[in-house]
Amino acid sequence: MNGLFFNNAMMNKKSVVTVLASLTIGTILIAPLSAQQTPSQTPEAKAEQQRKMLALFEHPKNLKVLPKKISPEDLQNTMRTYSKSLGVRCGFCHVENETPAGQKPDLDFVSDSKDEKRNARKMILMTKDINAKYLQKIERGFEEITCVSCHQGHKKPMVNVDSLPQQPKK
Ligand code: HEC
Ligand code: HEC
Repeated sequence: MNGLFFNNAMMNKKSVVTVLASLTIGTILIAPLSAQQTPSQTPEAKAEQQRKMLALFEHPKNLKVLPKKISPEDLQNTMRTYSKSLGVRCGFCHVENETPAGQKPDLDFVSDSKDEKRNARKMILMTKDINAKYLQKIERGFEEITCVSCHQGHKKPMVNVDSLPQQPKK
């Protein structure tokens, strides 16, 4: 049942190459965290930064809806997928502590103080329910929905038909 809401992440698990590739992509997508790095960074510094990045996902302390035993790679992929699906950076859901101008953002991933994070939990459960209660029961083999099915790269999905682009004239 875990696969219901982070199936993208699970599919990658099989191959080391894919995992390595996704780590690299992950690092790019988490650029906001490391955006201020200097262009002249040494390979050692880079490796250290990547190690730190994955360590972030190693011992989650406050998972209430995702499986507590989720692997660091899967958790990273899940977060990357949420960000992409909504077209946001990590700080949309996670609290950002103040840092002096020009310094790296300091995100508190454990904290639940942002509405967006708490609401995202409801969204995770909602998505899981829609799949389990309805879509999986359709015999024709419907695909499961994920965050992107509704969000399509936006924080707020279109909720009004009037916001659709002009219909073609017959
Ligand atoms: C759409 C909202 C959303 C976005 C965007 C998002 N997260 Fe999360 N994140 C969550 C939620 C919700 C949880 C808690 C899940 C749970 O309770 O099982 C979480 C948990 C985490 C945790 C585990 C914290 C702990 O110790 O419990 C880490 C680390 C994390 N996110 C990192 C990131 C990173 C890095 C990014 C950007 C690539 C990101 N998140 C983007 C919603 C989001
Ligand atoms: C069935 C459609 C649907 C799916 C699937 C869906 N969402 Fe949403 N989401 C919505 C709607 C509708 C809103 C509210 C838009 C508004 O502000 O009126 C919303 C709002 C949100 C918000 C903003 C909450 C706030 O406090 O402003 C977050 C974060 C979010 N969704 C995360 C997710 C994540 C993560 C997933 C996948 C696990 C997901 N959503 C899946 C429809 C969906």
